[in-house]
Amino acid sequence: MKRISLTQHLVEEQRLHHSITAELRLLIEVVASACKHISHSVGKGALGDVLGTAHSENVQGEVQKKLDVISNEILLEANEWGGHLAAMASEEMETIHPIPHRYPMGEYMLLFDPLDGSSNIDVNVSIGTIFSVLKAPEGMTTPLEKDFLQAGCNQVAAGYAVYGPQTLLVLTTGNGVNCFTLNRETGSWILTERHMMIPVETKEFAINASNARHWHPPVQRYINELLAGSEGPRGHNFNMRWIASMVADVHRILCRGGIFMYPADARDPDKPGKLRLMYEANPMAFIVEQAGGAATNGNQRILDIVPEKLHQRVPVFLGSKAEVELVTSYHRV
Ligand code: AHG
Ligand code: MN
Ligand code: MN
Repeated sequence: MKRISLTQHLVEEQRLHHSITAELRLLIEVVASACKHISHSVGKGALGDVLGTAHSENVQGEVQKKLDVISNEILLEANEWGGHLAAMASEEMETIHPIPHRYPMGEYMLLFDPLDGSSNIDVNVSIGTIFSVLKAPEGMTTPLEKDFLQAGCNQVAAGYAVYGPQTLLVLTTGNGVNCFTLNRETGSWILTERHMMIPVETKEFAINASNARHWHPPVQRYINELLAGSEGPRGHNFNMRWIASMVADVHRILCRGGIFMYPADARDPDKPGKLRLMYEANPMAFIVEQAGGAATNGNQRILDIVPEKLHQRVPVFLGSKAEVELVTSYHRV
């Protein structure tokens, strides 16, 4: 098979399929290049002094790791000057980051989780970057937080990079899901899988089971049925996996099916789940739907939720369609 690069793939999308604009192509290439840069920093580990804490907290009160801060800086710097963006928003910044006046302003807005799976950094387990692209509202002159508060179905592109045994970039522009592998010798992203589709049949689920005692009844019921295995109502055994990096868990599901859950629970009503809607759940939901799967918050499609706040959290059920539909139906009874 003749291998093509990310650049060639994007040029084809723009020229042959007219599914992306030249500006969006540039944006994706810049994000991909920033992910390559992050991948290099991640790979240095202790030799590059990138492990451990940054001794600071983000807006969600989480202690920042050095790599959270480094990755955020890399994405900000890479995306400021190209003229393709109006503003950016990040898990690691309380408010939005408008493009400085010295640079031209573009029509897109970029949101990212610069480093996903932070608890895995220091133990050398897969981590990643998640991003989402929206269009600035018509007539916007000065970007404000409210301009970002669009439902996920408005996304024009979304993707994630996984920094694992291989460095991968998984991307959708609303025309299926494609996977690129970083050639570490040449520095190019090479298309290695076209039109990824989530397998329909699944025997795997992912949830942090240490929270089981806090789960609401629909989640208790669904998980108990899976755990009952061949003797239970499902009639076969299921296997459980939890990497604690959403990127790595979602990537596994894209490759071999399954369901990923981070539900709301009975602990803190102001914290509905752990994951953030705009830069974790939305981009992953877009990718999963484009790969034939489904993503809900237990009640509705994640992509239909109109955000109220930049950093709002949302319960997440995503992956193989039948499983997501089943656990969602348990919330309705
Ligand atoms: P982040 O590192 O960006 O804060 O995200 C971590 C998220 C997600 O990647 C993962 O699925 C989940 O937190 C893990 O949560 P637990 O610590 O409860 O396992
Ligand atoms: Mn994250
Ligand atoms: Mn993060």
